[in-house]
Amino acid sequence: MYQAAATRYDSMKYNRCGNSGVLLPAISLGLWHNFGSVDDYANMQQIIFTAFDHGITHFDLANNYGPPAGEAEINFGKIVEESLYHYRDEMIISSKAGYYMWPGPYGEWGSRKYLVASIDQSLKRTGLDYVDIFYSHRPDPNTPMEETMMALDSIVRSGKALYAGISSYDAEQTKQAVSILKQLGTPCLIHQPKYSMFVRWVEDKNNSTGRSVMDVLGEEGVGCIAFSPLAQGLLTNKYINGIPAESRVGRGLSNGAIQQSDISAAVIDKIKRLNEIAVQRNQSLAQMAIAWLMKDKRITSVLVGASSVAQLKDNLLSLNNLEFSPEELYNIETELSN
Ligand SMILES: NC(=O)c1ccc[n+]([C@@H]2O[C@H](COP(=O)([O-])OP(=O)(O)OC[C@H]3O[C@@H](n4cnc5c(N)ncnc54)[C@H](OP(=O)(O)O)[C@@H]3O)[C@@H](O)[C@H]2O)c1
Repeated sequence: MYQAAATRYDSMKYNRCGNSGVLLPAISLGLWHNFGSVDDYANMQQIIFTAFDHGITHFDLANNYGPPAGEAEINFGKIVEESLYHYRDEMIISSKAGYYMWPGPYGEWGSRKYLVASIDQSLKRTGLDYVDIFYSHRPDPNTPMEETMMALDSIVRSGKALYAGISSYDAEQTKQAVSILKQLGTPCLIHQPKYSMFVRWVEDKNNSTGRSVMDVLGEEGVGCIAFSPLAQGLLTNKYINGIPAESRVGRGLSNGAIQQSDISAAVIDKIKRLNEIAVQRNQSLAQMAIAWLMKDKRITSVLVGASSVAQLKDNLLSLNNLEFSPEELYNIETELSN
């Protein structure tokens, strides 16, 4: 029977999520990959237990995580029921709806019909009474923003979720969503964008607001949790000497996973040079990539994925060195722009 480590709150850092009352761990765990029916259940259990034992209180899901879609919620719900049920009040569990989940006109995007049906399905699959955060997984160009936000608001008011979040909304859309949610009386807790050394669109101010996504979040008091912080494994030492068969690329996964074509000789050269900077900092490249995101105080949490306990432990050690000298930052920028 799993018993959580008594030391679980000793080393993790907790950051306030925007202007809210919620603290999130500096590192959170995402279940997009590695928690499907094709994956090893004992390994999943050990990853979740290791995370919780090291102060990772936040676990991120979505309706479509697997494969097949829905399976990650089922597996996670089973682990909670079997081993973590007594710790439910120490956990922040999120889910999302936005991407394709079931056939027909009501199985994706941002209608109230889809979002409300999806949260009900997620609660059924996980066996949870409620999720802590429910996200609109992506903006829907064909549904009025008011409808999507009203759906989030009513899901929160119904008690099926405690907080509302948005994911992959650009600066203009974020401003609009935050404003509508404020009027409805359910503040936007958090934004979940893709953000890493390699993917920096959230820093871009080139839009009608003249503000970046990060600026809008800082000004509006909304938290930020960065997804794919390791660029799905590129920002680690794993691909430096070829493509391991058991890696995300080696397994040839679909559904948004990086592919062999993403690993050019130029990318490998860049990774090698970044790795040298990390080595000089006595860090792994993964640790440096995570710490690099945390230097922006508007980042509440860095949402990592892991296929093994060893990877997760490596990532957790990033907390031991979060400081960057101006020279290190300059060198990183130089390598990234080369
Ligand atoms: N909102 C959205 O639209 C959206 C989209 C994508 C993801 N997300 C969320 O973000 C979470 C993280 O995304 P991600 O899995 O792409 O994140 P990531 O942290 O960039 O990549 C995770 C992968 O990197 C490799 N890895 C991790 N730590 C490593 C280490 N220390 N050394 C070597 N390799 C390491 C593993 O790859 P291998 O599997 O190859 O070993 C692992 O599966 C997801 O689980 C999900 O919760 C959200």
